[in-house]
Amino acid sequence: QKFFSKKSDFKGKKVLITMGPTQEAIDPVRFISNHSSGKMGYSLATSLVDRGAEVWVVSGPIHIPVEKSRFHWTDVKSAEEMFTAAKSVHDQMDIVIFTAAVADYGPAEVASEKIKKSDSEMSILLKKNVDIAQSLGQSKMEGQIHVGFALETENEKVNAQSKLERKNFDLIVLNSMKEKGAGFRLDTNKVHIFSKNGEHEESSLAPKSEIATLILEEIKKTEHWIKA
Ligand code: CTP
Ligand code: CA
Repeated sequence: QKFFSKKSDFKGKKVLITMGPTQEAIDPVRFISNHSSGKMGYSLATSLVDRGAEVWVVSGPIHIPVEKSRFHWTDVKSAEEMFTAAKSVHDQMDIVIFTAAVADYGPAEVASEKIKKSDSEMSILLKKNVDIAQSLGQSKMEGQIHVGFALETENEKVNAQSKLERKNFDLIVLNSMKEKGAGFRLDTNKVHIFSKNGEHEESSLAPKSEIATLILEEIKKTEHWIKA
């Protein structure tokens, strides 16, 4: 019987997770994007549902197997679409986790027809996209917990901590690109987790499911969780 017992420590919690990359259209057949697979976000989403939470997923285009019926699932492409979808449910959430690798810039204009090549060089003017985490961080609800991610290749810890402050996060999970076996597309990861009150945890290199469990444990140590 013990084998079937499940933890339900997140029962009653409403959680929003952004995941995957975003795609910013250049023309009808091309886009700007990045290597995010959605694995870390999906791992968190399934762990949360397993532990009793009700989870809203807003996902950019991903290519991993997912069971959408376990979530309130919205597929999006661009940063702007991700922002609109996330914003529409944000205020009802207890916890918001920003795992998406949102494209920082997108083409200033989308060509309506496929761009033809010419003999000269070409350039594309990029405009800055909305910062979803920062914008929603400014309208964070009383008692809400916001968790961000950071991917850095230099000054990792300092940059991650300044993102935590800038975006009003309660926790930030730092992915290291320098770590062998950690990062994009892999099934394992190694992270540092910083909290608003200055605490710092370092994980070992572990499957993303174990990293998800560790992140959930850190969420349970935040002041808003303890007060709720
Ligand atoms: N994020 C977001 N919207 C954006 C950019 C980032 O919601 N337009 C979120 C990410 O989901 C992540 C956190 O902000 O949780 C940090 O993302 P990151 O790309 O590391 O930070 P940036 O502020 O974009 O800074 P930079 O890429 O220059 O390091
Ligand atoms: Ca970025």
